Amino acid sequence: MAVRPVLRMGHQLLRQVAAPVATFGTPALRELLCDMDDTMRALNGAGLAAPQIGVSLRVVIFEVNRNPRYPHVDEVPYTVLVNPTLEPIGAELEDGWEGCLSVPGLRGVVPRFRQLRYRGFDAEGRPIDRTVEGFHARVVQHEVDHLDGVLYPMRIRDLTRFGFEDELFPEGYVRPPD
Ligand code: NI
Repeated sequence: MAVRPVLRMGHQLLRQVAAPVATFGTPALRELLCDMDDTMRALNGAGLAAPQIGVSLRVVIFEVNRNPRYPHVDEVPYTVLVNPTLEPIGAELEDGWEGCLSVPGLRGVVPRFRQLRYRGFDAEGRPIDRTVEGFHARVVQHEVDHLDGVLYPMRIRDLTRFGFEDELFPEGYVRPPD
């Protein structure tokens, strides 16, 4: 178990398409998930994808607890998601602020599908199948993008709504976009 360095935007591993996990329940997969968990918690992230710690596999974790800095976001249960697939429900997009441990200190407004179904597996290969909306849907889309070499700044449509968190939100909490 270890907190691992998080790669930052520009690193070539963050631009690759990650490979699917072939075998579940292995010590290597459990160790990877332990390191991801330690790293996400140490850095107070809402999620982490394996490529961010230098492992190009289709593995993400996420969890959102109540946080006074983000008073408008919903809680999301702790989830390990391996080999995920996303299926948007409807075409409705919603704007929301995002940040990323690979883009430290910055925030940007990103449009995401408001509602979607996601499927995948936990660390032991048990299937996961959920239909979610709002912030939960946003977090999944952000993390799965990492597996395809996409970082959130690549999806920003209006660069006037991209900047340093402490400049954008001097009050200390994130206001939802207008
Ligand atoms: Ni990220």
